[in-house]
Amino acid sequence: MTDQPELRGQSAAVHTASRAGGQVPGHLTGGSGSSLTGKVMPAEEAAAFIAPGDHVGMSGFTGFGHPKAVPAALVRRAAEATARGDRFAVSVWTGSSTAPELDGALAAVDGIDLRMPYQSDPVTRAKINDGSLDYLDVHLSHVAQMVAEGFFGHLDVALVEVAGITPDGALIPSSSVGNNSAWLDAADRVILEVNSWQLPELEGMHDIYYGTALPPDRTPIPILRPSDRIGEPYLRCSPDKIVAVVPTNAPDYATPARPMDSASELIAGHVVDFLTHEVRHGRLPATLPPLQSGVGNVTNAVLAGLGRGSFPPLTAYTEVVQDGMLRLLRSGAMTVASATAFSLSEDGLADLRANIGGYRGQIILRSQEISNHPEVIRRLGCLAMNGMVEADIYGNVNSTHVMGSSMLNGIGGSGDFARNAYVAMFLSPSTVKDGTISCIVPMASHVDHTEHDVHVIITEQGVADLRGLPPRHRAQKIIDQCAHPAYRAALQDYLDRATATAPGKHTPHLLGEAFAWHMRYLQEGTMRPA
Ligand code: COA
Repeated sequence: MTDQPELRGQSAAVHTASRAGGQVPGHLTGGSGSSLTGKVMPAEEAAAFIAPGDHVGMSGFTGFGHPKAVPAALVRRAAEATARGDRFAVSVWTGSSTAPELDGALAAVDGIDLRMPYQSDPVTRAKINDGSLDYLDVHLSHVAQMVAEGFFGHLDVALVEVAGITPDGALIPSSSVGNNSAWLDAADRVILEVNSWQLPELEGMHDIYYGTALPPDRTPIPILRPSDRIGEPYLRCSPDKIVAVVPTNAPDYATPARPMDSASELIAGHVVDFLTHEVRHGRLPATLPPLQSGVGNVTNAVLAGLGRGSFPPLTAYTEVVQDGMLRLLRSGAMTVASATAFSLSEDGLADLRANIGGYRGQIILRSQEISNHPEVIRRLGCLAMNGMVEADIYGNVNSTHVMGSSMLNGIGGSGDFARNAYVAMFLSPSTVKDGTISCIVPMASHVDHTEHDVHVIITEQGVADLRGLPPRHRAQKIIDQCAHPAYRAALQDYLDRATATAPGKHTPHLLGEAFAWHMRYLQEGTMRPA
């Protein structure tokens, strides 16, 4: 490092420095940063480096670390194009979901050609499901490899939010890492947003590993514990590729808080009981292996329960740090959390910002290729807890599709973790939409996680541990333990008749009837048997 000053989030000069304002950002002089001095510009000018049809790799993961200014300029361009009877759209590649002002706003003006690898935005979802927006639903750990292999085409632009730029030109990552190193490597042109809202304490929290390769040059990923650091705290980027630096000062998008419901509390209690039982029977160590948890109320409730039990000290090797994990870290019940991003509510975000000095030594943010790496997940023996749309009686899980054909969000990291976890748990209420839909069905209308990858299903009704059970035994257990009482008799009837009449008795199904439940909902608005 040189002793040159940094371009970083907290520098007031960064906000004001722009060509439009006629100011030269003095803090960019000297070191490698000097080549960036003339590239500071407002978002509108930076957006001009993005052409219609470009593939744009953006930062951003569950509302954290996404670019805040240039996407808004793209939204304006798309709206103007539409107004004159033209079209301006780009392909948007990210780490994961972003925020309404990016995904939602750009989709609303038909500014997205293709979206990948994950989204959770209602406007984007509607466009995907009406067929006007193409979507690639990809395991999050696979994206960087597939970009390198060229399956998605060439990456034209990387649009990446950073917390700052060091005098040497190293990039201080923001509140998510996601696929940023892959975008910066692959893109022809790089636009950086330097967000002064991000806290300076972020510097040093990241661990960016540059040791991955394509076969036959792969070597082991040397993470033996969630706390292991194997890379460097900065993102690398050739200054020659950087075409624009845009100062911003805008907050991340906090996930709207949802009140805790009784089903979530019951599910959380079952998870804690199940893990306690596993420890008692010697199948899990008393100090649990690292936790992975999807986002949402259920997992926050589970984390709270685990923090109160006899399990601490806990660790996490997971995709996102959510509110419940921050609380565990703060109380000392969790010692370290490795992830690729924060995913917090307003309260969680306030907690992070107030106490980031304490969290700095406890949280490591990595590229999603590493946070979700199958090799590491398998080695660490992660306990995976993810949500689901529905499970069928044999344990196949649908995480993504409503009624077989409509995309909800995407598979995200659930497949990375479930397939490789020591114990793969799927958590869900037994019914949704006021009981009109059963989340336990005869045959899943879409399968993301096969019966071979699903170890345990937990609803508010109870726990079905499927490990070691052949299919018909699994079916009986899921019906008895997890199905809502209002649907139990109908599921039992299906299983009994299938067992009696199906040509194969291994996994008996009545194919003509298998999706009758979904059809009944589509036609009558309820799966409830008459
Ligand atoms: N049939 C029809 N609709 C269903 C359904 C089912 N079986 N199950 C849920 N839904 C609906 C809900 O009613 C809700 O609809 P609404 O928005 O109109 O109210 C919507 O799907 C989302 O449900 P919600 O309760 O908000 O979901 P959740 O927070 O419990 O999350 C998933 C469940 C499956 C959506 C979520 O876990 C997910 O996206 N998983 C895939 C990615 C993943 O696992 N990531 C984590 C890896 S680290």
